[in-house]
Amino acid sequence: MKMIILLSFAILVVSCGQGNDNDTAKLQQQVDSLQKQLNGAYRPGLGEFMMGVQEHHAKLWFAGINQNWPLADFEVHEIGETVDDIKKYCTDRPEVKSIGIIDPAIGSINAAIKQKSTEQFKKAFTDLTNSCNNCHKDNQHGFNVITIPSGLPVENQKFKPGK
Ligand code: HEC
Repeated sequence: MKMIILLSFAILVVSCGQGNDNDTAKLQQQVDSLQKQLNGAYRPGLGEFMMGVQEHHAKLWFAGINQNWPLADFEVHEIGETVDDIKKYCTDRPEVKSIGIIDPAIGSINAAIKQKSTEQFKKAFTDLTNSCNNCHKDNQHGFNVITIPSGLPVENQKFKPGK
C-alpha cells in the first residue's frame, strides 16, 4: 500500500514537472512571437517627428504675431509633447542627447505668452529657430535650415483670435 502511494506520488511529481516544462516552452514561444511583433511594429522615425515639430513651429509663429495667445500656448505645448515623444521613441538616435538645446527658448516663449507681449514673443521665436538650427549644425544636419515662416503653413485654419 505504502509502495502504491509512493509510486503514484512519484508519477504525479513527474507529470507535473512535464506539464510545467510544456507550459514554460509554450509561454516562451508566445513571448518570442510577441517580441517579434513588437520589433516589427511601426514606429515614427526622428525625421517624421521633426516634421511635426516644423508644423507646430510655423503655426506657433502665426498664433503669436496675431496675438492669439491660447493658440500659441497650445502650439508651444505640442512642440514640447513631440520632444517628449522623441526622447521616448528615438532612443536609438544619439543626436537626441542635444535636444535640450531648445529648452531655454521654449521657456522664453512661454514667458512671452504669459506676458502677452508680441515683442518678447518675436525675440523668443527667433531664439527658438536659432536653437533648432544649432542642433542641426551640431548633428551633421546643418543643410537643414529652419526659418521664420514667410507664409501660412495651412489655408484652413484661423490664426487671428476670436471666433
Ligand atoms: C537633437 C537636436 C535637434 C533639435 C533641437 C531640432 N532638430 Fe530638427 N532634426 C534633428 C535631426 C538629427 C534631424 C534629422 C532627422 C533624420 O535623420 O531623419 C532633424 C530633422 C529636421 C527636419 C527634417 C524633416 C524633413 O524631412 O524635412 C525638420 C523640418 C526639422 N528637423 C525641424 C526642426 C525644428 C523646427 C526644430 C526647432 C523647433 C528642430 N528641428 C529642432 C535634430 C534636431
